[in-house]
Amino acid sequence: MSFRLQPAPVARPNRCQLFGPGSNPKLFEKMATSAADVINLDLEDSVSPADKAAARANVIAAINDVDWATKTLSVRINGLDTPWWYRDVVDVLEQAGDRLDQIMIPKVGNAADIYAVDALVTAVEAAMGRRRPIGFEVIIESAAGIAHVEEIAAASPRMQAMSLGAADFAASMGMATTGIGGTQENYYMLRDGEKHWSDPWHWAQAAIVAACRTHGVLPVDGPFGDFSDDDGYIAQARRSATLGMVGKWAIHPKQIALANQVFTPSEDAVAEAREILAAMEEAKARGEGATVYKGRLVDIASIKQAEVIVRQAEMIAG
Ligand code: COA
Ligand code: MG
Repeated sequence: MSFRLQPAPVARPNRCQLFGPGSNPKLFEKMATSAADVINLDLEDSVSPADKAAARANVIAAINDVDWATKTLSVRINGLDTPWWYRDVVDVLEQAGDRLDQIMIPKVGNAADIYAVDALVTAVEAAMGRRRPIGFEVIIESAAGIAHVEEIAAASPRMQAMSLGAADFAASMGMATTGIGGTQENYYMLRDGEKHWSDPWHWAQAAIVAACRTHGVLPVDGPFGDFSDDDGYIAQARRSATLGMVGKWAIHPKQIALANQVFTPSEDAVAEAREILAAMEEAKARGEGATVYKGRLVDIASIKQAEVIVRQAEMIAG
């Protein structure tokens, strides 16, 4: 192990991030009373160019007026390749109160993108005397983003979370699909003439998790477009959780309960983790570093694995 300890990410539940277009204020109260841990008010791709200014005003009013209770509140600004992003930052930070927790920067390509937004945010915060620094979350959704994923995770102390954006990612990579996440018909292996489907998002997710865990950032799975397919959403979310991601987006309210279910460690998983910790306590008392639990090896690494599950469950419960 490196002598540098892995930094812990911010300790907050991030099981579901619910999105809603800034141009649709009818949704805001419903979003605020939903069971999502994180709310993302969108100024970017769910808002048409003609609606950008109105959406910005709606979002500022909603940050100030809606009771967001204990939710993490985030605004997705427009990309740095657009004429809108600087005014998103300036207007939202100047006109919305301290309730806003973070801004989401889409389509980041390298650390300099984060540096640019950080410089602007830092100046506006200083000018306004903002007491609580704004956090950043980013979307990895381009070839450049995944190629530079580690420098992006390390780019600013404001960095809190990073999501995979499957649709823009697929487009940027030239992938032959119009689906937003999930199983891809043509991504299979053949064995004895039978198709076995594989997961084309896997490597990008694993790269994001590694970059995030190295730098104390929360790794999050992005949208699943087919909101009529609950089983598909759950399967994708379970793969993400298995790889180390802490949550997934909801682009429709029916996906919230699915995400909360998958990303809350089950009672069985927590009970088993506690039993492993107890078995290792007993082993330690006997002067042993390894022991047998239900017919399988557990050792000092098992303590760390079990602690991940117990800590996550306690953090969510607390
Ligand atoms: N947040 C909270 N409530 C929402 C919601 C959201 N994102 N999307 C829909 N609802 C509400 C509807 O208002 C409706 O409420 P009602 O029962 O009180 O009338 C209920 O959920 C059912 O909605 P439904 O009719 O199934 O969906 P819709 O056709 O109104 O909207 C979408 C479908 C996809 C357009 C809409 O869910 C949406 O805008 N999603 C977010 C898109 C987004 O932000 N994308 C950017 C990130 S990829
Ligand atoms: Mg996108």
